[in-house]
Amino acid sequence: MLVRHSLLISVFLFIAGDSAYAGNWHIGATSHCNDCHLQHSTEEGVELPGGPYSYLLVKSSVNELCLSCHDGSDPTAPDVSHPVEMYSGTLSGESAAGFFRDGGLYDSHNHTLGITMLTPLQSAAKSNSLTCASCHAVHGNSNYRNLLHDPGGVGDSLIIEEGKEVLTGRLPDIPPTVAGSIAAYERGNIGYRSGLSEWCVGCHDILRINESSVPPAHFNGHPDRVAMNQFVGDQHADPQHWITGTGDGFDLTAGGIRRVPFESPLATGFAASLLPSSGDRVFCGSCHKAHGGNYASSFLWPFKEGGASFNSGCQQCHNK
Ligand code: HEC
Ligand code: HEC
Ligand code: HEC
Ligand code: HEC
Ligand code: HEC
Ligand code: HEC
Repeated sequence: MLVRHSLLISVFLFIAGDSAYAGNWHIGATSHCNDCHLQHSTEEGVELPGGPYSYLLVKSSVNELCLSCHDGSDPTAPDVSHPVEMYSGTLSGESAAGFFRDGGLYDSHNHTLGITMLTPLQSAAKSNSLTCASCHAVHGNSNYRNLLHDPGGVGDSLIIEEGKEVLTGRLPDIPPTVAGSIAAYERGNIGYRSGLSEWCVGCHDILRINESSVPPAHFNGHPDRVAMNQFVGDQHADPQHWITGTGDGFDLTAGGIRRVPFESPLATGFAASLLPSSGDRVFCGSCHKAHGGNYASSFLWPFKEGGASFNSGCQQCHNK
């Protein structure tokens, strides 16, 4: 008993010391132990069939635990499980990260949860069975969305803080409300300065460097964290088309889509981070959703499926 108490106290101290620029929920005072743990194998006095589970969790796996609220059944918890309805009244119609389909089955439209797979584009090619805790700190931390400091387990200390690397227009309500969560987690509420690509590369480390190629090509794979105006003379990208935002690829033109996310490294605030400029950089989030979505390879548009929109994201930046 003594041992367990000191363990709990150290958990509290750890959380208290880490609360500046913290994630918005599941941290410090908003880490409600009872949301996820029980003290005995009972829930509200009724014995839990099959319990107690490891770490005294209320569900038998981390994914099942997190999805018990994040599957749309709790209207204040951002829904990350297909189908997602909560953002249908917003301009973007979706969250920043997107969604997963059923865990336990391979699905090329999202990061597959709960089955062991090789990590693609990783030099060590480790096998991994992904859970929510592969990417998020379950007890909160100082990063945006409680993203782990070292997702690849290689000794990284990646910093990606809200208000610094990532800018948001509206914080979620505390205590949570339905309208507050919709507004806070909707894709249009997020502006990126830096950090998210570095974070993805924590696992997909083969993409750590933009490998250079023989001119007139600059790169051997699609470059990442490269600005629209980095090679002005060569016109591989079309900054003016990108800034105007009405031509081929954009939603005012047939087959076009909403402007893809981008990094705005020098933005001074949230509103500025959404204004297109020639210094904007392409990053992982310009092409892929962090969780997944409607298209293969977690793409933001049907690049592999084909049809009128197959190259719309590419056209926004390249206009070929
Ligand atoms: C009892 C319900 C419940 C459970 C269980 C739960 N969550 Fe949440 N979670 C919420 C609610 C509600 C919010 C939104 C609160 C707000 O932002 O006002 C939230 C927010 C979040 C956020 C966004 C936080 C931020 O800083 O922006 C993340 C990430 C998250 N949850 C991950 C998880 C993970 C991982 C698990 C499992 C270990 C989990 N949740 C389990 C209810 C739950
Ligand atoms: C959002 C869900 C969630 C909340 C809220 C939560 N935990 Fe946990 N906790 C987990 C999960 C999931 C694990 C298992 C860790 C893993 O699998 O990585 C865990 C593991 C633990 C452990 C054992 C491993 C370790 O990290 O030391 C302790 C102790 C613990 N939690 C205490 C607490 C206390 C105390 C609170 C309240 C202040 C709390 N937890 C709130 C999800 C949660
Ligand atoms: C491969 C890493 C990864 C896994 C696995 C993962 N997340 Fe996320 N999650 C992210 C990233 C990165 C973001 C932030 C994306 C952004 O804002 O651009 C995020 C954002 C979120 C958000 C904010 C709402 C949104 O949709 O943008 C919630 C809530 C959340 N995750 C919960 C979960 C839960 C619950 C699970 C498990 C079912 C999970 N995540 C698994 C990486 C992951
Ligand atoms: C958010 C903007 C953006 C998006 C979306 C985008 N790119 Fe690019 N792309 C760039 C930038 C910036 C460069 C670097 C410019 C340069 O090399 O002169 C680049 C470079 C390239 C290059 C040249 C590489 C080299 O060696 O010079 C090719 C080919 C390319 N992109 C193809 C694509 C395709 C195909 C898509 C869609 C799947 C796409 N791009 C989506 C911004 C983007
Ligand atoms: C310009 C768009 C674009 C950008 C930016 C981009 N990717 Fe991709 N990515 C693609 C395309 C297209 C594919 C599908 C390639 C294929 O299947 O042949 C892909 C596939 C992948 C795959 C799956 C590979 C496999 O073998 O299944 C991973 C992992 C990946 N990308 C990670 C990243 C990460 C991490 C970043 C940021 C560092 C990133 N991508 C940036 C376009 C992009
Ligand atoms: C904790 C390690 C980890 C992190 C962090 C991570 N990934 Fe992955 N990723 C994996 C594993 C494992 C797979 C193989 C599972 C699968 O293909 O579904 C994978 C598969 C993928 C794929 C191919 C499957 C799909 O989704 O279509 C893409 C694309 C991808 N990751 C992009 C990203 C991007 C973008 C980020 C950052 C937002 C990221 N990954 C962060 C571990 C990670």
